[in-house]
Amino acid sequence: RLLIIDFGSQVTQLIARRLRELNVYCEIHPYQNVSDAFLKDFAPKAVIFSGGPDSVTREGSPRPPQSVYDLGVPILGICYGQQVMMQDLGGRVEGGKISGGGGTAEFGRAYVTPAESRIDLLAGWFLDGREQVWMSHGDHVAALAPGFEVYGTSPNAPYAITADLKRNFFAVQFHPEVHHTPNGKTVYENFVRLAGFKGDWTMSAYREEMVAKIREQVGDAKVICGLSGGVDSSVAAALIHEAIGENLTCVFVDHGLLRLNEAEEVVTMFRDHMNLRVIHAQEQELFLGALEGVSDPETKRKTIGKLFIDVFQKYADQIEGASFLAQGTLYPDVIESVSFSGGPSVTIKSHHNVGGLPEKMGLKLVEPLRELFKDEVRALGTELGLPASFIGRHPFPGPGLAIRCPGEITREKLEILRKADAVYIDQIRKHGLYDEIWQAFVAILPVRTVGVMGDGRTYDYACALRAVTSVDGMTADYYPFSHDFLGETATRIINEVQGINRVTYDITSKPPGTIEWE
Ligand code: XMP
Repeated sequence: RLLIIDFGSQVTQLIARRLRELNVYCEIHPYQNVSDAFLKDFAPKAVIFSGGPDSVTREGSPRPPQSVYDLGVPILGICYGQQVMMQDLGGRVEGGKISGGGGTAEFGRAYVTPAESRIDLLAGWFLDGREQVWMSHGDHVAALAPGFEVYGTSPNAPYAITADLKRNFFAVQFHPEVHHTPNGKTVYENFVRLAGFKGDWTMSAYREEMVAKIREQVGDAKVICGLSGGVDSSVAAALIHEAIGENLTCVFVDHGLLRLNEAEEVVTMFRDHMNLRVIHAQEQELFLGALEGVSDPETKRKTIGKLFIDVFQKYADQIEGASFLAQGTLYPDVIESVSFSGGPSVTIKSHHNVGGLPEKMGLKLVEPLRELFKDEVRALGTELGLPASFIGRHPFPGPGLAIRCPGEITREKLEILRKADAVYIDQIRKHGLYDEIWQAFVAILPVRTVGVMGDGRTYDYACALRAVTSVDGMTADYYPFSHDFLGETATRIINEVQGINRVTYDITSKPPGTIEWE
């Protein structure tokens, strides 16, 4: 197995993902947990140092135990990981100025050109002479550690690719794990090959590992799982059910912010299809009452997040011995809401399902999907035997329709939104586009507009249709519907849904937009 030592980069999980794509088993461990004893016990076949927000020039900055260099296994250092390796092994790192000119800090796209001698790590690279890479660094290597040579340079990073071939230590300044380094996966592929991995790890192995991990974490305790009806919590529930059977009780919270017929569909599917114990918690009044008069997006999210926890606690109290709460938190949820302590990342949105449990709450968390991306969760769901129609469902956020109803939420608006959404999704399915689209929904806008229908004046809500393509939810493009499709859909919504007299199409990608409106 491969060990990734995490120094706090925003994209460390992407390294793990690339490795899983190559069917290599890896684990990420924060540098604080990696001691000499840990290394000995883990016995990695190869090690990767992630990037990180700190500067190695700072006293007390994160380091791996020095024994890592004596393991005799290949090491790949990325960005901060490169600088750590250089500094540890006798090179020199300097701080770059971020602005003000003359600095060597570098953020964004850059092009690396090869040195004369080629190395196996870069097999398949430089076929067109140069490679696009993604840089994101303030510091830079100023002098190589003994034994290292340069194998690639960029205008701002003369030591973009370095290696000590005798020891199989590789250190690169850029991030090969991100999409903006298009050929980055090749670097990982070459690295794991030269470390001797066969690439025989699979999703079914992951399933077995996770089942074992859940059993280990939970023991004989009872677990309650919040089912949202989305793929994530469904897969989490199925996985935990496989691990602990009857000790799992699912709670499906109907917060009054669900789509048309959603509650019945979900409850039936889990009770009848999968034989899970499901409590259908009817808490519409509680949630809608608390949201009355609330229009600020973060307040909405926090209100819903807090009530979810209260509701879970209430049901947990009724289940004797329940001491764990399971959630289908995915990696993108984690990375967008949690900032590495001391790191530069900011909170974009408070995802209700990562809000953190209040200290005093008597439940511990089980989050078996925390390392996975959406498409991996789907693969795992298929592996667990969930129906294809369920696996293919578009993601649906925990706060539900609340964040698709910008401004104040009213029951009237929710009713209109549900109907419009159902028509829109029906259109998408009829045109055979559902599976091509990552996520599609309607947002009801907090404005009324004037229209004319028949001979009369209307003064009703406007709505926005949203549809995006995405690989992992972290970036997205708006879906290029045909004008015919849009026209037909607008006509259907206005004719079939009372309360809407204007339809717009949202053509914002992410970034700069987010997928949801709030
Ligand atoms: P954004 O709007 O941040 O959404 O671009 C990215 C993906 O995450 C979903 N989303 C959530 N999922 N709880 C969830 O379980 C949440 O609080 C939440 N907020 C956004 C969103 O639907 C999209 O798929």
